[in-house]
Amino acid sequence: MPVSVVVGTQWGDEGKAKIIDLLAESHQVVARYQGGHNAGHTVVVGTEKYALQLVPSGVFYSHVTPVIGNGVVVDLPTLFKEIDTLESRGITCSRLKVSSLAHLIFPWHQAHDAISESSLGENKIGTTLKGIGPAYADKSRRVGIRVGDVRDSKRFKQLVRDRATAEQKVLTALGGEQLKIDEIVENFAALGDRLKPYVSDTVNFLHDALEHNENLLLEGAQATFLDIDHGTYPFVTSSNPISGGACAGTGLGPRDITRVVGIAKAYTTRVGSGPFPSELLGELGDKIVEIGREFGTVTGRRRRPGWLDLVMLRHAVRLNSLTEIALTKLDILDTFETVRVCIGYELNGKELSGYPDDAQLLGQVTPKYVDLPGWKKSVSSVRNYADLPAQAKALIELVEKHVGVPVSIIGVGPERNECVVR
Ligand code: GDP
Ligand code: IMO
Ligand code: MG
Repeated sequence: MPVSVVVGTQWGDEGKAKIIDLLAESHQVVARYQGGHNAGHTVVVGTEKYALQLVPSGVFYSHVTPVIGNGVVVDLPTLFKEIDTLESRGITCSRLKVSSLAHLIFPWHQAHDAISESSLGENKIGTTLKGIGPAYADKSRRVGIRVGDVRDSKRFKQLVRDRATAEQKVLTALGGEQLKIDEIVENFAALGDRLKPYVSDTVNFLHDALEHNENLLLEGAQATFLDIDHGTYPFVTSSNPISGGACAGTGLGPRDITRVVGIAKAYTTRVGSGPFPSELLGELGDKIVEIGREFGTVTGRRRRPGWLDLVMLRHAVRLNSLTEIALTKLDILDTFETVRVCIGYELNGKELSGYPDDAQLLGQVTPKYVDLPGWKKSVSSVRNYADLPAQAKALIELVEKHVGVPVSIIGVGPERNECVVR
């Protein structure tokens, strides 16, 4: 299994980092392939809890080389803050490699994100305001500044000054704040110098690792239904979290990928705006949020709760070529009398054959549910599938039957070893 991809199958925060940390033990490289510091990836090791935004979730193993791939957009202040925090807690980050082809985020990207959101008013996306969309837009407009540009300090400084000056005009026209250009140039010149030892030709590094039979793990951020092409557009992020994005975002080819693990919570959450067929607005939803501690790692926002949606999960199997599913946070449902699962959608009294190709329609469908009896006991200490309550196994078997791939890992708690591996 030389190249595995871990991908979110819902709207993010499925527990990807916990599963990556678990799988990283048998891998030599863990590489992020898209997104930026909009991601909040939580890893719990013993009593220690780490929230990662840019550093790959394999960093906790000394045998792993963490890589930030070319598809990522990198915010240098956040990256170094994260590295400093990790190192102060005894986690060495000197092995980190950052792709020379990755694009950098600058303060004007955050300014544009804020202006865009406020101009949308009620229709806002609900972004993390980290400048992710504007940074990817600049990449597509071919005016971005890349990690490799820091290699020549003098040229880098000029590039930053030129872009800042150009962006200042646009921001002024949009009624935005003045950029402190001199301060930004000096600040980024220092950050660029600090980045130099991490800058790497990660594309050739990853291919060389593959040739040496090393196991590579590609870490997705965000999720399938936040994908710029396949998600609930426009309520999406600005990259391709789907497994296909792992090729573009690392330089590995499609035939290199041998395993694709889709991460799904045993229920669903979403942060930010957009359609959500199985959303739970009442007390039961509050119960999920409270027990599941469903508040954003990055923004602290309350996540919108809902039931597990197998129409979406089946579509995620298709979009990502999933070979298996890791079903996380099963323990959060321990006290529920009934566990509902969405198995179909109806629109104007007619059943839809699958996931619709229009996010507007998704906002209008009526979910069809099956109600399963809850197991009403704690599953946190279970480590073998056979020891799970019959009602929990019924849920897992319903998922497998409906989506057609096995559930290979079941999360029963936040800690590294709190899972059932089949
Ligand atoms: P990611 O963005 O997909 O990596 O997920 P987040 O880290 O944003 O959110 C997942 C949250 O659930 C984190 O607080 C994890 O520690 C926690 N978590 C992951 N798996 C499990 C699980 O199986 N049970 C419980 N109770 N918590 C889990
Ligand atoms: P992880 O990797 C959940 C959401 C935002 C917003 C939309 C666009 O932790 O699963 P952006 O700032 O990317 O332009 O925001 O995407 N979003 C996430 N939701 N988990 C994430 O990452 C997310 N990253 C972005 O809330 O709705
Ligand atoms: Mg998260």
